[in-house]
Amino acid sequence: MQFETTPEQDLIRQTVREFAEKNVRPIAAKADQEKRWPAENIPKMAELGLLGLNTDPALGGAGADMVSYAIAIEELSRVCASHGVIASVNNSLYLWPVTTFGTDAQKQKFATPYAQGKKLGAYGLSEPVAGSDPAGGQSTAQKKGDVYVLNGQKNFITNGGHADTVIVFCKTDPAQRHKGMSALLVEKGMPGFTWSEPEHKVGIRAAHSTQLYFDNVEVPKENLLGKEGDGFKIAMKTLDGGRIGIAAQALGIAQACLEESVAYAKEREQFGKPIADFQAIQFKLADMAMRIQASRLLTYQAAALKDAGKSYGPAAAMAKCFAGDTAMWAATECVQIHGGNGYTTDYAAERHFRDAKITQIYEGTNEIQRVVVGGALLKGDLR
Ligand code: CAA
Repeated sequence: MQFETTPEQDLIRQTVREFAEKNVRPIAAKADQEKRWPAENIPKMAELGLLGLNTDPALGGAGADMVSYAIAIEELSRVCASHGVIASVNNSLYLWPVTTFGTDAQKQKFATPYAQGKKLGAYGLSEPVAGSDPAGGQSTAQKKGDVYVLNGQKNFITNGGHADTVIVFCKTDPAQRHKGMSALLVEKGMPGFTWSEPEHKVGIRAAHSTQLYFDNVEVPKENLLGKEGDGFKIAMKTLDGGRIGIAAQALGIAQACLEESVAYAKEREQFGKPIADFQAIQFKLADMAMRIQASRLLTYQAAALKDAGKSYGPAAAMAKCFAGDTAMWAATECVQIHGGNGYTTDYAAERHFRDAKITQIYEGTNEIQRVVVGGALLKGDLR
C-alpha cells in the first residue's frame, strides 16, 4: 500500500490550492450568504481542467487519476465546499457514467463539451418519495416509437437549473422495481422539462440544488444510457465513485476547520496568554489532526483502489462515512474553539459547520454507508 502522493499529485494540489486561494476565497463567504451561483468561476475551473479531471483527453478531459481528483476536490472544498460539489457532480456523477456506459456517439455529444467545461451535467436519482431507497422512485418513461415519454419529479438535484443535461433514473418497467429502472440523458430545452428555484439550504448555498419536473418529456431513444433495466446498477456504480468525491469534500472542510482553529488559538488571548497554550485546546487540535489524517488515508485509499481497477465501493463508503463524520465533528470543535466569535458570520467557522452537515447526508446518508460497509463485511468483501 502506498502512503505517499506522487510529485504529479503534489503539483495538482499546489495548482488547485493556488487557484482556490486566488479565485475562490475572495467570493466564498459572500456567495454563501447571497446563495449566489459562482458563475464567474465555472469557466476558470474548466480552463484548469477541474470539470473533466478523470475524463480521457481524447474526450476533452484532463486524464488525471482518481487520487488527483480527490486532492483537487479536497483543495477546492478547503476554501469553498460549494465549488467542491459543483466540480464533483460534473466529474463523478455525470461524466463517469456517460463515459463508462455511453455509446461512442453519446460520448461525443454528452461527454466532450462537459469535460471541457463548456456545458455542465447533473445526476437525477432522488425523488420526494425516494431518498435512501432509490428503487422506490416513481418517475416513469414509457417507450412510444422512437421516444421515451418521461413523467415524474426529481428532488435535491445539485447543479439543477444550470445543468445542460441530467442523467434521469426512471422506471421503464415499473412492475420490476429496481430491475425496471433505466437511465435517460435529458437535455435542457426539451419541452416539458422544467425546474424549481434553488432550494433554501443550511449550507453549500452557492451550489444550487433544485427540483426537476418532467411532464410528458419526449426523450429520443438514442438518449438511453446503457440498456433498458440497467438504470439501478448504473446509479449504484456511479455513487460508488461519487462517494470518493464527497469524502474528499468533507476532508477539505475538515482541513479548513483545523487550519482556522490553529490560527485562532494562537491569536486569541485569555487569562493573559494565547488559548493555544491550554491543553484543553491542544487536545482538540490534536484530535482534529488525527481524525483528518485518517480520513485522508481512507479517501486516497478508495481512490487508489479505483485507479488500480480493484473493488472500491465499500472502501468509498467507509471513506465517505468517516470523513463526513469527521468534518461535522471538526466543524463543531472549530466553532467551539472560536467561542462566541465562531457563532457569528465574521468567521468562516459557522460556514464550515453548515457545509459539513451535508457530507453526512448526500450521496447516501452515513447510515446507508454503514449498510454498504456492513454488507461487504458479511459477504467477505472487506477484511
Ligand atoms: N454496484 C453494482 N451493483 C449494485 C450495487 C453497486 N454498488 N449496489 C447494489 N447493486 C445491485 C445488487 O447486486 C442487486 O443486483 P441484482 O438485482 O442483480 O441482485 C441490485 O443492485 C439491488 O441491490 P440491493 O437489493 O442491495 O438494493 P437496495 O434497493 O436494497 O439498495 C442501497 C441498496 C445500498 C441501500 C442503495 O439503495 C443505496 O445506495 N441507497 C442510497 C441512495 C443514495 O446514495 N442516494 C444519493 C442520491 S444522489 C446525491 O445525493 C447527489 C448529490 O446531491 C450531490
